Order: sequence, then C-alpha cells, then structure tokens
Amino acid sequence: MNTVLAFSIPLLFSSMVWSGYLEYDQDVLIPGDWSRVGRVDPTQELELTFALKQQNIDLLEKILLLVSDPDSPQYGKHLSLQEVADLVRPSELTQKLVRGWLQSHGITNCSTVHTRDFLQCSMTSAVAETLLPGSRFYRYVREGQSVIRSSAPYSVHSEVQQHLDFVGGLHRLPPKGPSVSTEQQSSKAGFHLGVTPSILRERYNLTSHDVGSAENNSQAVAQFLEQYYHPADLAEFMGMFGGSFEHLSQVDKVIGTQGAGKAGLEASLDVEYIMSTGANISTWFFTNPGRHESQEPFLQWMVLLSNMSDLPWVHTISYGDDEDSLSTSYMMRINAEFMKAGVRGISLLFASGDSGAGCRHMGKGQNCFRPSFPASSPYVTTVGGTSFKNPFKVTYEVTDYISGGGFSNVFEMPDYQVTAVKKYLQTAAADLPPQAYFNVSGRAYPDIAALSDNYWVVSNRVPIPWVSGTSASTPVVGGMLSLINDQRLLKGLPTLGFLNPRLYKLQGRALFDVTEGCHLSCLDEQVQGKGFCAAPSWDPVTGWGTPDFASLQGFLSE
Ligand SMILES: *[C@@H]1O[C@H](CO)[C@@H](O)[C@H](O)[C@H]1NC(C)=O
Ligand SMILES: *[C@@H]1O[C@H](CO)[C@@H](O)[C@H](O)[C@H]1NC(C)=O
Ligand SMILES: *[C@@H]1O[C@H](CO)[C@@H](O)[C@H](O)[C@H]1NC(C)=O
Ligand SMILES: *[C@@H]1O[C@H](CO)[C@@H](O)[C@H](O)[C@H]1NC(C)=O
Ligand SMILES: *[C@@H]1O[C@H](CO)[C@@H](O)[C@H](O)[C@H]1NC(C)=O
Ligand SMILES: *[C@@H]1O[C@H](CO)[C@@H](O)[C@H](O)[C@H]1NC(C)=O
Repeated sequence: MNTVLAFSIPLLFSSMVWSGYLEYDQDVLIPGDWSRVGRVDPTQELELTFALKQQNIDLLEKILLLVSDPDSPQYGKHLSLQEVADLVRPSELTQKLVRGWLQSHGITNCSTVHTRDFLQCSMTSAVAETLLPGSRFYRYVREGQSVIRSSAPYSVHSEVQQHLDFVGGLHRLPPKGPSVSTEQQSSKAGFHLGVTPSILRERYNLTSHDVGSAENNSQAVAQFLEQYYHPADLAEFMGMFGGSFEHLSQVDKVIGTQGAGKAGLEASLDVEYIMSTGANISTWFFTNPGRHESQEPFLQWMVLLSNMSDLPWVHTISYGDDEDSLSTSYMMRINAEFMKAGVRGISLLFASGDSGAGCRHMGKGQNCFRPSFPASSPYVTTVGGTSFKNPFKVTYEVTDYISGGGFSNVFEMPDYQVTAVKKYLQTAAADLPPQAYFNVSGRAYPDIAALSDNYWVVSNRVPIPWVSGTSASTPVVGGMLSLINDQRLLKGLPTLGFLNPRLYKLQGRALFDVTEGCHLSCLDEQVQGKGFCAAPSWDPVTGWGTPDFASLQGFLSE
C-alpha cells in the first residue's frame, strides 16, 4: 500500500532516468540559410525559458469571450495584470516541482514574471544538456546574426513533464526578414500614385480632426528582426508627409535595445504608418527583446507582456512562422498568452503574411496550402492586404495577390466567425481550391485588411517608394483602432481589447468590401498559383474588407 504513495513523492530526481518529450511535433530542422559553425563550449552560458503549466485556461477563454462580446453584460470588464496572475498562476505543486528539478541540477539563477508562469534561467550548455536529455547545442550564423540552438529534440524528466508546456531557446530560429518588399513592377514603372499618410486618410475617411487627444492613450509596434528605426527618419517622414494633420514626430518609449546600425525598412515602415493613422497618439517601440543568443525574440516579447502592468492598448506585429513547423503545445501556450493580453483590454494585430495561401510540398507532387502562425490564432486580429484598383487614383480596392489568408490546420473555427465563413464556403463553392489543399473546419483568416502596396517610407534619410507587404497594412489598421480607443477613453469607456467578436457582429458594416482578385498559392498543375479569391462580405483573402473610419468610429466608439 505504502509503496504506491512513496512512488508519487518527487524525490531524488537524478535517480529516475525516464523522461518525456514536451514538443514531439516541433520541427527541429535548421533552415538552409543558417550555417552551423560548431558545438558550443560546455561552459557557454545559455538563457532558457520554462513555460510552466497554467491554471484556469478554460476559464480565461470564457472570460475573454465575455469581455469581448458587445452583447454581454461583461463587455469591457477587463482584468488587471494582477487579476490575470491570480487566475492563471501555476499551482504551488507545479512551481515547487519545476524549481526543485532545476535546483537538483544546480540551476538557481532564474527570474520569473508577475504571472509566475514563465521562468527564465541561465545555465551552462553542459548543464542544459544534462537537464534536457537529447539536446545538443550548436552555434548557427546567418548574415551577421548568431544564435545557439539544439540540433535534436529535447526531453524533460517525467516528474515535470505534466507541469511544463515547453522550454524556449532550443528550437525556432528567428524568421527571415525583412518581410517587406520593394519590388517594382515594370508594368507600373514611370509615375505612380504611391501610398502616403494623406492618401490613406483620404481613402479611409479620416478628417484632419481625427487625431488622438486622450491623456493616457498609447499604441505600439513590436519588431523581432534586429531592426531599428531612426528618430531622424521619422521626423523627416512627418516633415514630408504629415502636413495635413496634427501628429507626433517622436516615439515616446523604446523597450529593448536599439542597435546603432542602419535603420531597417520594416521598422521604419511600422512606426511611420502607425503614427500617421494613429496620429498624435503616444507610440512605443518594442525592439530586440531577445538579446541573448539562446533566446527566441518573439517569446521574449510575450514574456515581457506578462511582466508589465502598464502597456499600450494596441500592438501591431509583423511576424509569422509556418504553422506546421511549430509544436502544438507551443502554439497552444502562445494562444493562452494572447488571451491573457485580450482580457486586459489589449488589442493584438498580426500581419496575415505575404505568401497568399502559402504552399507546402507534401511529396509525390502532392501540395497543400500552408497557414502561418500567429496569423491563424483565433485570439488575435489578423490583417490582410489590398491594392488600389487603379494605381494612379484613389479608387476602390482589390486583393493584393500577396495577402496571406486561409484556414488553420491546428485551431478549430471559433464561434464568432462560423456564420461568416460558412456563408463564404457556400457562395464561393464553385470557385474554391480543391478540398485537399485546405481544412474547412479550421480558424479562417484574415479578419480585416488595408492597403499593402506601393508605400512611401523614409529609411536612412532616403524616401523609398514601392514598399509593399501586409506589414504595411497592419500598423495602418492599428492606428485607426487607437483613434477609436481614444474616443472611448475620452467618454470613460473601456478600450476595444480583443476585437474579433465585435468585428464579426458588424457583418461588414463600416468596412469597404473587397470583392475582386485572388491571392497566390502553389505553382502546380492543380491550382496553378491561385489560392482563394475575394468575394462579397467575408473572405479568406481580405477578411471583411478595409475600414471606412468615419463609419467604423460611429459603430465602435459607443
Ligand atoms: C544570472 O543571469 C543573468 C542573466 O543571464 C546574468 O546576467 C548574471 O550574470 C547571472 N548571475 C550569476 C550570479 O550567475
Ligand atoms: C520581471 O520583472 C521583475 C521586476 O520588475 C524583474 O525582477 C524580473 O527579472 C522580470 N522577469 C523577467 C523574466 O524578465
Ligand atoms: C494631441 O494630444 C494631446 C494630449 O496628448 C492633446 O492635449 C492635444 O489637444 C492633441 N491635439 C489635438 C489637435 O487634438
Ligand atoms: C499612462 O500615464 C502615466 C503617467 O503619465 C505614464 O507613466 C504611463 O506610461 C502611461 N501609460 C501608457 C500605457 O501610456
Ligand atoms: C483540420 O483542422 C482541425 C481543427 O480545426 C484539426 O483537428 C484537424 O486535424 C485538421 N485536419 C488536418 C488534415 O490537418
Ligand atoms: C467614406 O468614403 C466613401 C468613398 O470614399 C464615401 O462614399 C462615403 O460616403 C464616406 N463615408 C462617410 C461616413 O463619410
């Protein structure tokens, strides 16, 4: 009898040899653009992130849907970081077991976050390889970037397997950047309109009075590509293009370290455009949160959000990985982090990606589309891209063929979008790609769109035309949501928070429907490069369409 009890007491970790994988479906192949430069020294310090199993995640999701549903009496009753911590904090047992396991390997230099669900610990690579059987750490380099990752899957002691979601810092290399392109299409050569703040404000019905004025409103862009913006570029951009509306020409807060190198096009684009639609609103720039070679920059940003009680209300992020390259446990946990932000009244906007429906080669000439995460997460608002029908005029918009969109293979279709997506699947039935290419039961994206083609950006003091990508449309939409938050804050109303349940209830009202054009996909015989096509009301290319700000503000600022 007693032996059974004795077995369940977590003693003597080192004497128990069995261990289990946390991320059995994580892709550990190193992309070809990285080169391996050798094993790391056993004394090399690593900094790994332990994601401790949280409590009450089902309840967290319930609360998120209630506080985000405009028809619920709970609408807008957001939680503070402290309340989120009280809800999701790992159990005492989980905290004790994980700490005990780390301590039994001599790992004591750890820091935690306010919600206690992440531990970040430094240790040598020799200790890490003993702690995580299977792991083998190498250094990899790409164009001046250097990271440390494991070439093989890791496991953890069976006693803690149930208490951890994943360990960060072993896999998942930073994605290739920048995702913006400056490709000039020869057919459009010569003079062209080019998107500037005044063109955007004209197209989306923003008047010169539509600028922020609420005291504590703020917005943010987050960057994970080792990219910097230059304050001088922003000032020059606003000098050239900001003439017709009140705006700020400086970022209020930089979180992380800005390097001293050249400005990145993507970083310049993000700040210049969120501050053009979200004009006169305090703007923060999150940069390079993964300073250590073993850290995952995106994960570092997520960890940071759980440790800051005072955050901007809107964040726009241009970052994504192939859904099939990430472990399910990692994505589920990142979803929980998105929910934690949403219940606090924070809106997270992700670019839908620049590869249309994407393409995954399954072998034997078999292909299917390739969704991207976090774009495919049910708990964020995903932004697609459009172009002007006539590139020389402020006309209506059509699909930008690069606009990312499709159906998740991992996450089920959330209730808020079922009616809209089913309707699309019915009306577009004759025009849909073969069923083998996508998963009709998955979360479908994007949710909304904006122009993503032909932007003017100032970078390294030079005005650059033809900048394109959904990383342009995302801050444009983000700035507009910040303006609506501004109206709400002035009236003493809570911020918009997680927008999707409310956005889908508008059923396209206050948005310019985009109904023309298809995005790209696999270049094979079956689909010949064509993915999904835009259609009346919601579609998996441009979502519900692009914002008519004047009208959207009317609906959302009440
Ligand atoms: C603890 O870890 C931090 C972060 O990696 C490092 O800067 C610091 O030197 C470490 N402290 C000790 C005592 O090892
Ligand atoms: C979280 O913030 C606290 C105090 O502000 C700090 O001591 C701790 O190191 C932070 N945690 C991480 C993981 O950065
Ligand atoms: C700009 O914002 C500040 C508050 O941050 C406000 O006092 C000022 O009136 C705003 N300007 C306009 C034109 O609304
Ligand atoms: C809100 O205002 C306070 C006081 O001015 C400031 O310290 C804080 O950073 C602001 N918060 C945000 C999210 O802008
Ligand atoms: C389709 O998506 C669902 C989730 O909505 C998932 O459970 C299922 O495994 C997916 N099917 C394929 C073939 O990926
Ligand atoms: C917004 O702009 C469109 C066309 O640009 C126009 O037809 C519409 O009336 C405007 N809506 C509002 C509410 O101003």
